[in-house]
Amino acid sequence: MIEEAAKLLARSRFAIAFTGAGISAESGVPTFRGFNGLWKKYRPEELATPEAFRKDPYLVWEFYKWRMDLIRKARPNRAHHALAELERMGILKAVITQNVDDLHREAGTKNLIELHGNIFRMKCTSCDYREDLKESGRLDEFLAEKSLPRCPNCGSLLRPDVVWFGEPLPRKALDEAFKLAERADLVLVIGTSGIVYPAAYIPQIVKETGGKVIEINPDESGITPIADVFLRCSAVEAMEKLMSRVEVLVG
Ligand code: OAD
Ligand code: ZN
Repeated sequence: MIEEAAKLLARSRFAIAFTGAGISAESGVPTFRGFNGLWKKYRPEELATPEAFRKDPYLVWEFYKWRMDLIRKARPNRAHHALAELERMGILKAVITQNVDDLHREAGTKNLIELHGNIFRMKCTSCDYREDLKESGRLDEFLAEKSLPRCPNCGSLLRPDVVWFGEPLPRKALDEAFKLAERADLVLVIGTSGIVYPAAYIPQIVKETGGKVIEINPDESGITPIADVFLRCSAVEAMEKLMSRVEVLVG
């Protein structure tokens, strides 16, 4: 299985990766739907929505601050690094991620498409004010604040700059992702349940336009039925094995 996947990857002309929460699990970031993904007693669908934020912005911000704090302590793992290395080797053309954790960027991936936003950014609920807490260096201060964050321009509530359930994805990122998927002759799908649309269309588009699908996941997912090669193991284990074979094949 690894051998077949390595050959497909080494022979590909335009490979892309499509990742979900599972790729960051071994960095200590809990997935959404796994047992460890639950925060208090809530499911993500109860917190990551505009309705939840309108009803109880304190609760939603508490959840996001908890996740921010957890994610800031996480480091990219060898699966993130392997994808960055494949890009440097000229094999991988882009990483399309549903993750908001910034770990692909930290690992060195250059062509990164974030379909669901980034947890370290916030935006105003009224005007076009945005802040990247990593860039502004205010992350510590922000996490310690007890009151709700307000826009310095207009005074409205700030919210996380991530996509919530029921909201459209950022137009530019989605267009770009679909274009890449149409062009790709191979997609490496890593650690996603593949049930959240429109993101989950990405591997389907690759498949429908004649490309190959390699899936890495310890469990079956919504993508498994269309996978040409299914590597049923963790992201780190699969990517380490895959990389050592690919490096030999491309010499
Ligand atoms: P999920 O939590 O739905 O799925 C995580 C997937 O990772 C599952 O299929 C697991 O089997 C797999 N997994 C767990 N550990 C793994 C490991 N060590 N290596 C590889 N795979 C592993 O997360 P996503 O598919 O990313 O959306 O969820 C999609 C979207 O739903 C998220 O982007 C988020 C969420 O609610 C929004 O916030 C809009
Ligand atoms: Zn504002």
